[in-house]
Amino acid sequence: MAGTCVVGLQWGDEAKGKIVDLIGDEFDMVVRYNGGANAGHTVVVEGKTFKLSLLPTGVIRPSVTSVIGNGVVVYPPRFLEEVDSLLKGGVDVSKRLVLSDHAHVIFPYHMEEERLAESGGGEGKIGTTGRGIGPCYQDKVGRRFAIRVGELLRPDHLRERLRQVVPFKNRLMTAFADGAAGAKVFDPAAIADEYLKYAERIRPYVTDTARLLHDSVKAGKRVLFEAAQGSLLDVDHGTYPFVTSSSSLPSGMWSGSGLPAKNVTRIIGVVKAYTTRVGRGPFPTELDDGIDGTGERIRKVGKEYGTVTGRPRRTGWFDALAVRYTAALAGADEITLMLLDVLSGLPELKLCVGYEVDGERRDHFTSDAHILERCKPVYETLPGWTEDITGARKLTDLPAAARKYIDRVSEMVGLPVSVVSVGPGREQTIRVR
Ligand code: IMP
Repeated sequence: MAGTCVVGLQWGDEAKGKIVDLIGDEFDMVVRYNGGANAGHTVVVEGKTFKLSLLPTGVIRPSVTSVIGNGVVVYPPRFLEEVDSLLKGGVDVSKRLVLSDHAHVIFPYHMEEERLAESGGGEGKIGTTGRGIGPCYQDKVGRRFAIRVGELLRPDHLRERLRQVVPFKNRLMTAFADGAAGAKVFDPAAIADEYLKYAERIRPYVTDTARLLHDSVKAGKRVLFEAAQGSLLDVDHGTYPFVTSSSSLPSGMWSGSGLPAKNVTRIIGVVKAYTTRVGRGPFPTELDDGIDGTGERIRKVGKEYGTVTGRPRRTGWFDALAVRYTAALAGADEITLMLLDVLSGLPELKLCVGYEVDGERRDHFTSDAHILERCKPVYETLPGWTEDITGARKLTDLPAAARKYIDRVSEMVGLPVSVVSVGPGREQTIRVR
């Protein structure tokens, strides 16, 4: 079985969805293995636009079974909302979407816990998406208070679990909010009533997805893994603590789906031709150069606003050290260079090829946020191009300066560039190999 994983090698939002869309035809199954509704992707089917955050991008393909693996954290109303919005738009996924009974469930108190943690302000703030992702994973790892999707389907059991968990959460949050100020108090019976309604609608989708994957692989099915977020947000190898709470690198595939990594033979690393980041944390190549600056220009042209939160994304130059680091951790075989057209018209382009920290030159990335925030980028300057490249379909259609930029990115990262994207359309793609 030749499985493939599509993974972002920066801080998320690398346009992984477009790559999944381009190669989706080659697969029978698409699998999400990490994160939850903190990811955002826009998919267009027959002219209709759908905004998804929990369902995999591949769900729009009629011939594909979409799997939400055990490593994902699921907010049931969001799951149903996305299923309904697709149905309303004429896309019925009921026969081709499955949800792991082992996935963990996000409850309203998770969002409240996150709100309280993030509203403390100051250095403790991570700048999360507010979707309850971190608190749900905390409960999963802590084991005492987490509830899995399979448990939603057993009404008496669910009521009992919520009777145990919710009073504790209420006490914790009241203490966290420093007295009664501001912390919402939750009623276990009301949550149970609400979630049991969701459970009945979710029931037909729930299954042992690990077994399904094992059986499918045995039957020769081809599987595509869709990583959520980006590798620099990985909880172990990202810029901790400014990361998400799951393994967004391909290493999360095995635990987050139950399918052993040996089934995956191709890892496609997706990068933007520049860098973006949402939320707090170090970003050495950030272009914080004001309203008339290059950073703002990239934000406007690249429409760099969060799909989930609408927040303006922080923008900056391509950091070859960061991508070389994540490419190695991901075991990437190739990179796809997205949004190259956004750089058109800039007089010159900068590529980060080193850092300077405490007077010393470094030629490798560090995920230690405390060191990284002191790293000053060392740039190589390349010529820009003025031509509109959105119509380019092969490398030779590109201006020489754009080709040089691609070659230098590839050389610095140490991987071939297999695809160059010059616009959002499926056809606005250069397949290099
Ligand atoms: P959380 O995942 O909501 O806990 O947020 C943790 C960090 O990851 C924050 O900086 C978020 O902005 C960032 N983040 C989470 N999901 C995404 C994503 O899909 N794209 C980009 N950044 C993300």
